[in-house]
Amino acid sequence: MKEYSITILGGFGRDGLKESVDRVKLRMGDIVSIVGPTGCGKTTLIKDIEMFANGNTPSRRVILIDGKPQSEDVIFDPSKNPIALITQHTNFLSDLPVYEFLYTHAMIRQTKNEEAIHDTLDFANQLTGEPVIQDSAMTELSGGQTRALLIADAVIIGNSPIILLDEIENAGIHRTKALELLRKYRKIFVFVTHDPRIALLSDFRIVMKCGAMQKVIYTNDEEKEVAEKIKKLDDLYAYCRGKIRSGDIITENDLKFDNVDVSI
Ligand SMILES: Nc1ncnc2c1ncn2[C@@H]1O[C@H](COP(=O)(O)OP(=O)(O)O)[C@@H](O)[C@H]1O
Ligand SMILES: [Mg+2]
Repeated sequence: MKEYSITILGGFGRDGLKESVDRVKLRMGDIVSIVGPTGCGKTTLIKDIEMFANGNTPSRRVILIDGKPQSEDVIFDPSKNPIALITQHTNFLSDLPVYEFLYTHAMIRQTKNEEAIHDTLDFANQLTGEPVIQDSAMTELSGGQTRALLIADAVIIGNSPIILLDEIENAGIHRTKALELLRKYRKIFVFVTHDPRIALLSDFRIVMKCGAMQKVIYTNDEEKEVAEKIKKLDDLYAYCRGKIRSGDIITENDLKFDNVDVSI
């Protein structure tokens, strides 16, 4: 796959002041998080990237792909556009059955159909508690199933080298599994997130404040170790949620999280 890089050239925050961070470069293989309180401009930054902003958005940022600004036809031609954005609100307009939807996309992308469709469903089903059935209509899928299928579709059939994910943690997908699976692909993944695990498993995080990129924090060794402990807490939480959902009783013994089976 072609090697892509994204360079974000800083613009201006909501208060009209220049952003503290004036340049961030993302390379293939990078997992990057965008963090900050609600309303601080995370979605705006990810949308700037998606639209290849060129000083023409409220932030006046410039996005360079491989060091160059992009022309509009790249945005509107899916075969040229290297970016896939998955938001919390992405909905399917299509009521095609899942299989046909994936098949149509695979045809357009000219990938090996059967294999890619199988891998996409398999990937999606590792991310959701309730498996996606290939004969169900796209419009019948739950929020979690929809997000899981969109991520899998962007990674495998779309084969997008740059994948932007806006707050997927609220969509009811298995985050531990998602990060584990995504790490196997050499792409640029950008997560807008409030999840400490996703942030700490990233190579670095962009901290937003008042519509501006305030600083960039590289995950250090101590944070990586802490991330492992948070992972256990998170798995424990998922385990307890699973027990509650299946009508079980929670006991003190369940909190011995070293022997927790995290399959949900
Ligand atoms: N750099 C900026 N310049 C002007 N307006 C901005 C800027 N960044 C964000 N905004 C505005 O602030 C509001 C909240 O931003 P948003 O990106 O939705 O925040 P978040 O996703 O962090 O909750 C939006 O109305 C957005 O248009
Ligand atoms: Mg947002």
